[in-house]
Amino acid sequence: MALDEFLAELDQLAEAAAASFASVGDASELEALRVKLLGAKNGQLKGLQKGLARVAAADKPQAGKHFNQTKQRIEDAFALAEQRLESPGTDQAASDFDATEPGLRPRLGHLHPITQTIQELKDIFGRLGFRVAEGPEIEDERHNFEALNIDPSHPARDPLDNFYLHAAGYAADPEAGGPGADVSPWLLRSQTSTVQIRVMENTPPPVRIVSLGRVYRPDTADATHYPMFHQIEGLLVDTDVTMADLKTILRVFCSSYLGEEVEVRFRPSFFPFTEPSVEVDMQWQDGWVEMGGAGMVDPNVFRAVGYDPDQVTGFAFGLGVERLCARRFGITDIRDLFKNDVRFLQQF
Ligand code: DAH
Repeated sequence: MALDEFLAELDQLAEAAAASFASVGDASELEALRVKLLGAKNGQLKGLQKGLARVAAADKPQAGKHFNQTKQRIEDAFALAEQRLESPGTDQAASDFDATEPGLRPRLGHLHPITQTIQELKDIFGRLGFRVAEGPEIEDERHNFEALNIDPSHPARDPLDNFYLHAAGYAADPEAGGPGADVSPWLLRSQTSTVQIRVMENTPPPVRIVSLGRVYRPDTADATHYPMFHQIEGLLVDTDVTMADLKTILRVFCSSYLGEEVEVRFRPSFFPFTEPSVEVDMQWQDGWVEMGGAGMVDPNVFRAVGYDPDQVTGFAFGLGVERLCARRFGITDIRDLFKNDVRFLQQF
């Protein structure tokens, strides 16, 4: 046997042995591998040793030396593997890996309950034929008040009840006049009724829209109030619209959002932009909760947007989204909706 061939066989075995010992996973595998490679009777190294006899006499010393080195290499690889299995700390990745352990699931996020509510309300009104309209949160007094028939002396315009924005260069002086007299012409909208005006200004009748969004009032936060909240506004204008249509739409809406069994109550009320006006209550637990207002669009509002009140009639409503959401999910304090405590939000 040629010396080169013999040496190459030994090297191959040593390399294969090192790789096998390095990937061995437990003691019984290690022992099986040891017997296979180093076994005194049928081990692979023993098998190669037979080749030594066939090497030319002159090459024997070199061949014998290389054989002993190979044996040592394999025994070292075995010892290393044995040590690794005995003290797992020396090779964490291989020894601690448990292929049967369940993986870590990534946590799925989801929409905020208010966003979920808004989407569902849009959905329900969409099925009732209402298009979604939007308007700005920074408004002028025309859209927030004047065109809605809220005259300058109306208490709703009091600077203390609204977030007026003091535009640069504008000297606001609350002492100088009555409510709303000498304040900035811009404010954060206090109601989504503004969008009624914006839509009617830009579209001829018939109109059938809902608008959902944030509104702002300087209220002290408590279980049912917050300085920022959401409203859903509805407006339907056509010929021969009556109060019966309004009540039907609101009843259908309430039962599809809150369930068949929910009771809805209409109480006579007053809003400058509707005549007649009602307040809309829904039954919750043992009592009634006020959800918002509604009514037949006041002829003055039609005039303000260039509609002819002799040609068209319409109804409008504005409901509190937080209250609907709270009623739906059983939330008793709306402040929880805005604390961003994940433990609370996760529940919905
Ligand atoms: N804008 C009223 C509010 O914020 C709610 C409202 C009442 C809206 C009657 C309407 C309506 O469209 O017809 O208190």
